[in-house]
Amino acid sequence: MTAPILRRLSDLRALHSDWRREGARIGLVPTMGALHEGHLSLVAAAKAACDRVIVTIFVNPKQFNNAEDLAKYPRTELADAEKLAPYGVDAIYVPDPDQIYPEGYATTVSVAGLTDVLEGEFRPGHFDGVATVVAKLFLQCGADAAFFGEKDYQQLMVVTRMARDLDIPITVQGCATVREASGLAMSSRNLRLSPEALGKAGQLYPVLQDLANQLRGGADFGDIVAGARATLATAGFGEIEYLDLRCAETLEPLSRPDRPARLLVAAWLGGIRLIDNIAVDQLND
Ligand code: PAF
Repeated sequence: MTAPILRRLSDLRALHSDWRREGARIGLVPTMGALHEGHLSLVAAAKAACDRVIVTIFVNPKQFNNAEDLAKYPRTELADAEKLAPYGVDAIYVPDPDQIYPEGYATTVSVAGLTDVLEGEFRPGHFDGVATVVAKLFLQCGADAAFFGEKDYQQLMVVTRMARDLDIPITVQGCATVREASGLAMSSRNLRLSPEALGKAGQLYPVLQDLANQLRGGADFGDIVAGARATLATAGFGEIEYLDLRCAETLEPLSRPDRPARLLVAAWLGGIRLIDNIAVDQLND
């Protein structure tokens, strides 16, 4: 059965009080729609851990630092609701824009430090937009747990920090990236890749896997990154905005995985910006 679509905060709050009276544990999956298997895996995780699940769909203008990207972002509400039907979610919250940013809205939530690097460097203002809307969705939905994909690893770190810093009583749960058979991380942006670019896009993940293997073998990141960049260029990738080894918690740069670490990449392919990341186990020596 298709879940009710709610567009007003007052309707969401009414439902929420009923659920609280039942003593239900409430799960939240925040999305911008154009749902794919990655989102659906978050919904499945939320359903497994919670009694009631809210999926939100809101294309948040404040997190787009490029007007064209915002305009081209796919909007597929009906198809999204159909994809959610088999999961038995309890509500789909598609807030009218004024329910998130009413007339005179003036508050920004900004997480320092973690947002200065990687995506933050190339998409100024993006994480302020994310932290602001996610803080609002956490507070509006009053959920006990929220589910985010590791594909947007830095986002996961930022919203975890934000909820902790603001004492929002919610558990932020990261879930493994879901990949196409080719290895390409699922993303709503993949819909915009040409068939030719789609054929090449699967080569990003093996480059990360290969780097991770070399690091596990004791290599220094500085000695192997140029080779990985050259492999991507040969595969047809354009500008590589970053390809870094970072501490998995603080995101500070590392040359060796001497603590839990993450390889993260952002690269352009056929006019589309792709991001991906992979965990690198800690070397114990
Ligand atoms: O990952 C996304 O789709 C968005 O950044 C989020 C978390 C829904 C906030 O708009």
